[in-house]
Amino acid sequence: MIKPEDTAAVDAAITSRRSIRAFLPAPVPRATIEAILAVAARAASGTNTQPWRVYVLTGESKLGLSAKIRAAYDDPAERQRHAEEYAYYPTEWRSPFIERRRKVGWDLYGLLGIDKSDKAGMHAQHSRNYDFFDAPVGLIFTIDRVMQQGSWLDYGMFLQNIMVAARARDLDTCPQAAFTQFHKIISAPVAAPESEMVVCGMSLGHADPRAVENSLVTEREPVAAFTRFFD
Ligand SMILES: Cc1cc2nc3c(=O)[nH]c(=O)nc-3n(C[C@H](O)[C@H](O)[C@H](O)COP(=O)(O)O)c2cc1C
Repeated sequence: MIKPEDTAAVDAAITSRRSIRAFLPAPVPRATIEAILAVAARAASGTNTQPWRVYVLTGESKLGLSAKIRAAYDDPAERQRHAEEYAYYPTEWRSPFIERRRKVGWDLYGLLGIDKSDKAGMHAQHSRNYDFFDAPVGLIFTIDRVMQQGSWLDYGMFLQNIMVAARARDLDTCPQAAFTQFHKIISAPVAAPESEMVVCGMSLGHADPRAVENSLVTEREPVAAFTRFFD
């Protein structure tokens, strides 16, 4: 039986989740990471296929991967040699999606004092992705290439569960598609076989409450804007 306080706790874990882009160095115990992943793996998946594979990086392994990706990202010629393996975004942007995308981008850069002409500032901020925004834990998620679109749906549920389970432990996250561009660099250090495709990364740790970028609260459409009820 679910009690009202359980409902409130679950709702709070969901609604308090935000993408956090600056973390404190405070470590996350391995047992906590394992508990979060165990809870998250209760996600539903078509015919219980459980398509997720997770590589957890901390300490030197995380720093080593970050340094490798940063080196490629900061070198324009090398960066060109890296491309995403799957299309996260549409090739043709339309309303209302393009407006929402622009708004979150400029809201974030606005907080950080980066204006539209400041290409170096944007590059520097984007590169923070590859340091996992200084989080003590970097997660890399892969999926077997044989899996189809349905399994990617399952994957989203797993990722959301991780983020909500983290909130339930007063931890924060940022899901990161930015890593997909550098899948060729990622696979070797985590020894991911060629049969696996990088889905995304995720930062996990304790939010830095003083970082201005963490004050970003994104908007959502009201239920009436995306729902129709039929009696
Ligand atoms: C799969 C996925 C990938 C994302 N990739 C990135 C990323 O690479 N870098 C980043 O700063 N934010 C990334 N985000 C965060 C989104 O920008 C964010 O979820 C959105 O703006 C809504 O804000 P909120 O998460 O704070 O509610 C990603 C989100 C998802 C779900």
